[in-house]
Amino acid sequence: MCGIVGYIGNQNATPILFNGLKRLEYRGYDSAGIATIDSNGISIKKSEGRLCNLIQIASSECGNIGIGHTRWATHGCPDAKNAHPHLSQSGAFAIVHNGIIENYAELKSFLSIRGFTFVSDTDSEVIAHLLDYYYDGDVIEAILATSSRLVGSYALGIICRDDHRLFAIKKDSPLVVGLSKSEAYIASDMQALTDKTRDFYILDSGEIAIISIVGGLPKIRVMNTRGKTIQKDTYRAEAEGETADKGDYPHFMLKEIYEQPAAIERTLKAQLNAPLPFLSNIGGMHIIGCGSAYHAALMGKYVIEALTGMRVNADIASEFRYRNPRLQSSDLLLAISQSGETADTIGACLVAQNKCKTACIVNVPESSLTHIASPMYTYAGSEVAVATTKGFTTQLLNLYVITLRLLQKRGDIRAKLLQDELTALPFAIAKALELEGQIKNLSPIVASHETAYFIGRGADYASAKESALKLKEISYIHADCYPAGELKHGTISLIEKGSVVVAIATDQALLDKTVSNIIEVKARGAFVIGISCFDISHVCDKLISIPQAQYTSPILASVAAQLLAYHVALARGCDIDKPRNLAKSVTVE
Ligand code: F6R
Repeated sequence: MCGIVGYIGNQNATPILFNGLKRLEYRGYDSAGIATIDSNGISIKKSEGRLCNLIQIASSECGNIGIGHTRWATHGCPDAKNAHPHLSQSGAFAIVHNGIIENYAELKSFLSIRGFTFVSDTDSEVIAHLLDYYYDGDVIEAILATSSRLVGSYALGIICRDDHRLFAIKKDSPLVVGLSKSEAYIASDMQALTDKTRDFYILDSGEIAIISIVGGLPKIRVMNTRGKTIQKDTYRAEAEGETADKGDYPHFMLKEIYEQPAAIERTLKAQLNAPLPFLSNIGGMHIIGCGSAYHAALMGKYVIEALTGMRVNADIASEFRYRNPRLQSSDLLLAISQSGETADTIGACLVAQNKCKTACIVNVPESSLTHIASPMYTYAGSEVAVATTKGFTTQLLNLYVITLRLLQKRGDIRAKLLQDELTALPFAIAKALELEGQIKNLSPIVASHETAYFIGRGADYASAKESALKLKEISYIHADCYPAGELKHGTISLIEKGSVVVAIATDQALLDKTVSNIIEVKARGAFVIGISCFDISHVCDKLISIPQAQYTSPILASVAAQLLAYHVALARGCDIDKPRNLAKSVTVE
């Protein structure tokens, strides 16, 4: 989703802003822009589409202070006029904004009556004009007055023509300040800056950062919206690891698929014996997330319920937060999010706060979710491809570790078997990755269709849902997923000669039932691709044989399906790492 970068120092801001924006490209965007202060005041350049369009028109911009933005359109179409930064009417302020100003219509009419004219269709432009409206020479006063009028979520980068400081303010949307020896930066995501610095202030909601260069050194003052100075500690980010570039891989997605054995091993090493105090004395669980994280939650429900007998509910976060869920004080709300910044997941977590225990499975250190629920980290490393792969499977790993803990607490003998299997999982995934050649060979069959159906039962259903999402988001093939027994209750009317059906069948106890469902679609002419650890070749047109595993085979099936989605998207010539309309971190509802 939208990305913010800002710079203050002794160098030309423009290439530094471009570099930061480039590092945020993975979040998804459809236009971009920068604003710098030079001797003539604030200069703004914006363009529709990819960053290279902006670089073409803005490379000669200069100035030692600047802000930049990649926009993922919400209010107003993705064109240059709606791109950020937005300039205030007098030209005194430029702002970049992440989030949504919910009362923008009311503010727009307030400002219009007072002579302000709007050039964009965005909610964000009101912020620039409000700053003008309240400005009488004191930038901080103008920011405080403006923020008091805003309803909604915002991370803002602000520059003022008359002032040699860089300003940032946060409410709900993520924002950090990075410091190096002689320069300072702001960004919506540490990853924008980790090639420049590892030292950050992570702003909390309601905090304003005022950043200046004094005697060649960066100086930062953080205050709250009542103007009171706040003492904050810096956070030292991990050194840049394996994820800085694609290496020899053609796409980040493929690289991240292949990083799964190592990511699983790292996560297991960290979590196998880590204390998980949020698990003590719980009577039931609500696991929530969005998109793939919801699919992980669903798989968690099947696995934890089946193995431990605990009452587990899995919910889509955006639904859970508004359906007035019944929570008991002995419940655990477990939120799952790779980014830790997904607005609906945070919202759902806040609904449960003070009613029951809250914990979260998160990949990004110090992300917003980790400040409102006890974090159980995944150690996937940073994920750049928009479609999650190692993020998803490490979430599943943590859910299996939770299952293991619950079994151990009860002295259940299956704990030992599960632990052994988890320890062997990195090898099993590496084995599943060896199927790539075979999967690549069958990908043209799927690539030539506009629809595909996915079926599975139990935890395989969760795996099939994730597999369908993976295919549709990167290949733009419509992929529909059903519990295998459900297809005949309506959707089977769509199955005709040649329809592609991907059937995941890894559960011995449900195998005969799933095989019957495969036979039903085959009888109607479907072309069936099976993903299984059993020999079901007699009912499939093609079989992807994944390694045998008693508990974790749905994870291995997911890995095979990631490779299938990847090769189908490749065969269709899609932009795999940056699928259209999608954002990596969905920070608005
Ligand atoms: C799909 C995908 C999304 C995310 C979802 C939640 O490949 O990546 O469906 O899973 O947007 O994101 P997080 O996990 O960051 O909360």
